[in-house]
Amino acid sequence: MPTSILTDSAPPPVSGTTFPVLVDAASKRFQQGSSTVEALRSVSFSVESGEFVAIMGASGSGKSTLLHVAAGLTRPDGGRVLIDGTELSAMSDGQITRFRRRKIGLVFQAFNLIPSLTAEENIALPLLADGQSARIEARMQPLIDRLGLGSRRHHRPDALSGGEQQRVAIARALITNPAVILADEPTGSLDSINGQNICRLLQELCEEQQRTIVVVTHEPAVARWAKRIVVMKDGQILTQFPTAQFCNLHELAAHYHDIVNVPSAS
Ligand SMILES: Nc1ncnc2c1ncn2[C@@H]1O[C@H](COP(=O)(O)OP(=O)(O)OP(=O)(O)O)[C@@H](O)[C@H]1O
Ligand SMILES: [Mg+2]
Repeated sequence: MPTSILTDSAPPPVSGTTFPVLVDAASKRFQQGSSTVEALRSVSFSVESGEFVAIMGASGSGKSTLLHVAAGLTRPDGGRVLIDGTELSAMSDGQITRFRRRKIGLVFQAFNLIPSLTAEENIALPLLADGQSARIEARMQPLIDRLGLGSRRHHRPDALSGGEQQRVAIARALITNPAVILADEPTGSLDSINGQNICRLLQELCEEQQRTIVVVTHEPAVARWAKRIVVMKDGQILTQFPTAQFCNLHELAAHYHDIVNVPSAS
């Protein structure tokens, strides 16, 4: 008898937890030579279904670490992570990989494209790895069109600009139609028109398809597309606020800069 999609790879969901993304008191330390960096200090963070959240904060504040912990790429030293009610810590690395492939679309800060594969082959990879090659054709063309990669589909990453590589990485994250999209600075290498195009696409995925999206960004012009902005500092969530309270980008950017430019108390 065929097993259902997830029963062979993940424990059953924990009842009563309805958040697509729930990070509960996660901590993570890294050893750097003789010193220890506390990248996450008991961070609790949740995202509702169909919500678009932006994570901001200075370089080194823990944004990527939080995203990687939420994606099950980095195991926290303490606390727990639940995706769609399923606790990741109970799974083996292989189980997490299979689970992530089906639930989460990930855009890495450093793209992580496979150099020997063309743009199209890189985009198709998550479906191939999941034995869903029959879906590639129907899903590839709309993504290629939407991300403006038509003339670049047969090029390898070293023949693509940084912005083109970034768009390939975004297409690769979206091709599985994931319920949760976690993107680390997805517009960092894009010009403002392409950057806004990506933001519009992410917003549509949220509003029309109830996808859950978390974007790490340094840019207020990107964060303003989110419903909520979470600001990190020194491995903790400093504050969070809805974007709807601002009339324009200028006001939002000024508020954010006021927050991050307050010197630490110590
Ligand atoms: N693999 C690692 N090994 C050692 N230290 C790490 C590692 N990953 C992150 N760190 C440290 O943890 C802290 C948080 O890093 P993180 O990458 O989460 O920051 P960030 O907010 O994403 O920064 P940026 O905006 O520059 O991308 C930093 O001090 C960083 O040096
Ligand atoms: Mg980062």
